[in-house]
Amino acid sequence: MNLEQVSKLESKLLVSTYDRYPVLLHKGRGVYLYDNKGRRYLDLLSGIGVNALGYAHPAITKTIARQAKLLVHTSNLFYHEYQGRLAAALTKISGMDRVFFTNSGTEAWEGALKLARAYAQANCVQGEQPKFRILALEHAFHGRTFGAMSTTHKEKYRLPFAPMVPGVEFVQFNDVADLERKFDSTVCAIGFEFVQGEGGIRPVSGAFAEAAHKLARKHNALLIADEIQSGMGRTGKWFAYQHYGIQPDLVTVAKPIAGGLPLGALLASEKVSGCIHPGMHGTTFGGGPLACAVALQLVTILEKEKLLSHIQKTGSYLMEQLHKLQAKHPGIVEVRGQGLMIGMELESAELAKQVFQQMLKLGTIVNRTDETVIRFLPPFIIKKQHIDTAVRQLDQVLAKSTTAVTTTGRNK
Ligand SMILES: Cc1ncc(COP(=O)(O)O)c(C=O)c1O
Repeated sequence: MNLEQVSKLESKLLVSTYDRYPVLLHKGRGVYLYDNKGRRYLDLLSGIGVNALGYAHPAITKTIARQAKLLVHTSNLFYHEYQGRLAAALTKISGMDRVFFTNSGTEAWEGALKLARAYAQANCVQGEQPKFRILALEHAFHGRTFGAMSTTHKEKYRLPFAPMVPGVEFVQFNDVADLERKFDSTVCAIGFEFVQGEGGIRPVSGAFAEAAHKLARKHNALLIADEIQSGMGRTGKWFAYQHYGIQPDLVTVAKPIAGGLPLGALLASEKVSGCIHPGMHGTTFGGGPLACAVALQLVTILEKEKLLSHIQKTGSYLMEQLHKLQAKHPGIVEVRGQGLMIGMELESAELAKQVFQQMLKLGTIVNRTDETVIRFLPPFIIKKQHIDTAVRQLDQVLAKSTTAVTTTGRNK
């Protein structure tokens, strides 16, 4: 089937939720994707932060093949070898105590909200109403299920499905005074991404993170870190909160954790996980042997190949090159982020759209988020030479697009 046939079939049969790029993907190797006609694309998005080791990494494909022949699914009624071993690896790199495995990011976040409410109930003074308010941040994105959606800031994600889960309030981004105003003894948890992803690659300030941590301690509320996009090494440390020297009570992980297979995890401190008992929470698929065996292999490779330090180096290099572009192109408003999680904010949504489309035409995949931000989430194995290619293309595209956008604006 060709692209036209596939898109026609989908438009007739699929629920219309996605606005896909006009590319029919066939295979991937390393940092490259190939379409059905054999055209190569340099991938600076890695399936929205999922394909950490790129495509067809030999150790990952070998683990998938080996485990697929042995056992793919067990349900959580039985033991298999890999959940415990993966939990040992995850608790070691995160400083957390216990793990609950899920299938996706939103499911991990949902679990975190449930645990926060369960913790509040367990710690409620007898005769009093358990506290249930949850604070989230402006620009936050936590997923599409009800709890996650209710803590996601943009109205376009929430309003069509109202009413939301009660008790959620949004705090102005990096506004400590607003945080202090809203954070009192009725709050059971505050949850945020230390580096916001969908919201436009916005790192929270040290002062804000510190204040949130202090207020959570003061009110016996939980601090939940959403590391679904920023975790597992993406920012150059295992988790973005580790740049801040803050230890959360709950951490959610997903996207890159199993090298492309669907898996998520909720990491919890001992004091919080003690509030959950058998039967209170669960999942049919989460933590299956195939996904867990691959995730364990992924952690081993990240450690063995010293990929965290590689991410720091290549991330700094990409940031440097984008700052050079900023000095040259007035259409670039700001470049921000950490490690290989970088956003380039442009002066208009139209310019960002053009840059994204032109880059795709040149054979490089980037993404536009929060309307005006070009987002880079390349595979962790990206090398300087790939960055040089992409930056050269961006330079060319920005020169052309800025003129085009300005001219169109003038004509209006
Ligand atoms: C920070 C963050 N949290 C939660 C989610 C939801 O994850 P999933 O799409 O796997 O449900 C995402 C997805 O983009 C995310 O970036």
